[in-house]
Amino acid sequence: MSNIEQTLSIIKPDAVERNLQDKIKNEFIDKNFEIINEKKIHISKEEAEKFYKVHETKPFYNDLCTYLSSGPICVMILQKENAVLENRKLMGATNPNDAEEGTLRKKYGISIDKNSVHGSDSIENAKIEIDFFFKN
Ligand code: CMP
Repeated sequence: MSNIEQTLSIIKPDAVERNLQDKIKNEFIDKNFEIINEKKIHISKEEAEKFYKVHETKPFYNDLCTYLSSGPICVMILQKENAVLENRKLMGATNPNDAEEGTLRKKYGISIDKNSVHGSDSIENAKIEIDFFFKN
């Protein structure tokens, strides 16, 4: 039985700044993700705070929001069978130092903050995150 899902991917400021967005997009395409929608935007700190609200009690919340709003990002809706999990596999561990060889964060990430990509962590959050960037 097919289980086609959508997930939200963000190519973060560190990767856009290094002109890695086409390379990273091709990695998704190579793994048979379909890019359903995409846009390059520069969000405000307030928008970043809304997006990362689940992390508001974490010590790194402020820096995280400052960082996500520090430069242009590329947001994408990715579609594939089991897209949420498959995207998380392709991204690798949050900290590039812990990420497996071949994963996006291992290849492109600089640090736990500048880890190049974000991906939804559950189907429920994928819906919320897709609506956040693409509704209206
Ligand atoms: P992301 O998948 O975008 O979700 C939240 C982000 O917070 C995470 O990637 C990291 O870039 C960042 N972050 C910074 N410090 C930490 C930490 N100690 N644990 C988890 N995430 C962190």
